[in-house]
Amino acid sequence: MTLKTLNSLPSWSALTAHYERIRDERLRDWFASDTEAPSRAERFTVEGGGLVADFSKNRVTDETLRLLVSLADEAGVAKRRDAMFAGEVVNPTENRAALHTALRSTRADAPFHAQVAAERAKMADFAERVRSGAWTGYTGKRIRHVVNIGIGGSDLGPKMVVHALAHVAHPDISTYFVSNVDGADLARVLARIDPEETLAIVVSKTFTTLETMTNAHSLRDWFVQQGCPQEALAKHFVGVSANPAEVVRFGIAQENVFEMWDWVGGRYSLWSAVGLSIMIAVGAANFDALLAGAHDMDRHFREAPLARNLPVLFGLIGIWYRNFFGSQSYLVAPYSEALHFLPSYLQQLEMESNGKSARLDGAYVDYATSAVTWGEPGTNGQHAFFQMLHQGPTIVPIDFIAVLTPEHALVSHHPKLLANCFAQSEALMLGRTEEEARKVAGPDKPELVPHLVFPGNRPSTTLMLDALTPRSLGSLIALYEHKVLVQAAIWDINPFDQWGVELGKILGKVVEADLTAATFDPHKHDSSTSALIERARNAAKR
Ligand code: F6P
Repeated sequence: MTLKTLNSLPSWSALTAHYERIRDERLRDWFASDTEAPSRAERFTVEGGGLVADFSKNRVTDETLRLLVSLADEAGVAKRRDAMFAGEVVNPTENRAALHTALRSTRADAPFHAQVAAERAKMADFAERVRSGAWTGYTGKRIRHVVNIGIGGSDLGPKMVVHALAHVAHPDISTYFVSNVDGADLARVLARIDPEETLAIVVSKTFTTLETMTNAHSLRDWFVQQGCPQEALAKHFVGVSANPAEVVRFGIAQENVFEMWDWVGGRYSLWSAVGLSIMIAVGAANFDALLAGAHDMDRHFREAPLARNLPVLFGLIGIWYRNFFGSQSYLVAPYSEALHFLPSYLQQLEMESNGKSARLDGAYVDYATSAVTWGEPGTNGQHAFFQMLHQGPTIVPIDFIAVLTPEHALVSHHPKLLANCFAQSEALMLGRTEEEARKVAGPDKPELVPHLVFPGNRPSTTLMLDALTPRSLGSLIALYEHKVLVQAAIWDINPFDQWGVELGKILGKVVEADLTAATFDPHKHDSSTSALIERARNAAKR
């Protein structure tokens, strides 16, 4: 096994030495001694694509950022970025381009422009017919329930966006997302929908995914059981796939098939027909605005100098904590209920893309790659796991996301929400010294002092959106997409494949057969797996 290190890059070694010099320095001291203009906050605040990020509460100095930007230079981040935009085969293990950016380009000479425009027009026509009530179910009733059946990239992006943009959604159409092969997921939705008013969108790039096909078949059976004639199913099922032949084989009418393409990765696909549920929910104009926002960020990523480039800086700061501080995870804390599903969307984007050990040259890394991505909206997280962030021995870097103006009418809540977001970053950074803790404990309770000390120096970035609009949301998503590419370029891995999900799928089929077969050979698997299978077989007999 060949292991490769990044130490050969001069900036990597320089960063290693720099880390040793500043690792014990304190953010609170840096802020206190920062008396000259421009202030630390001003120097470390960067705008791009309509978003603003304050990086100043990170454990970085001007020198750190200079070295990190040199690392991006030496690692060829700009070259990788340009290759992606140009449609080169940046996913060599699947021999594919990764052209999600072409889906939001307005240029007539963008790759695949004609194909993209034609499919978008078809989507818009269909979405508007559903929204206006011109498209009806088999009894002539308009569609009031849209059920998106898909998983991973065919679920998480649309689900996150439909939830985020509920304030601009069609008031009479509810959208449901069914992903899990656990029948409980579909059953929960079946209890709430009426077949005469329901449209199912079966979304699967491959159209072979176990979970999606199982749910699609069960939903189709349900329609028939509920009285929908077989020949009327075309009014209730549309499909989205890069494998249209398979969609037709499933029984969806050819004209109800929406295409995506192999050059769009699943977790980068919400901009394609995979976003049909989004378009039906919010309309074609808002979908266009979402694309325009992503395009704003694409332009910023291509044009801004690396040192003032949001995706580059997010990527580099992530690497600083992952590879130099040794942080195992990073937290995304959107102070926005509308962004409830952003953390789970980012989990796939970050970890399915960069959770790898094989480099592009076939050697293995001897350095850490993707951090564990996790998160929960604020302020809820504060009452669950923030205790650990403040006083646990582990440092978890955080992306706080603040939406400066509310998208709802309960405006009096908003200062409380924002205050919590900003105060958390301040408290994590400042901490509380022993001396300060002694004052809080008072003379009678000296034993409380260790419990009232906060180590502080806990890093965070605060990313701000003026308002949550389709456009700002598009920009936000594209920011994280490009951040992932920046990190992949530095780690020298391919962020666009996902071989790591295969083995479990293959063994899953074997185990499924063992669970349902008339007989089972307990020596077929290791003793643990065999015992689990035996237990489930016995439970099924009871
Ligand atoms: O199993 C992982 C994965 O292949 C993801 O990459 C993808 O987003 C998801 O499954 C769904 O795949 P499909 O769209 O082909 O059903």
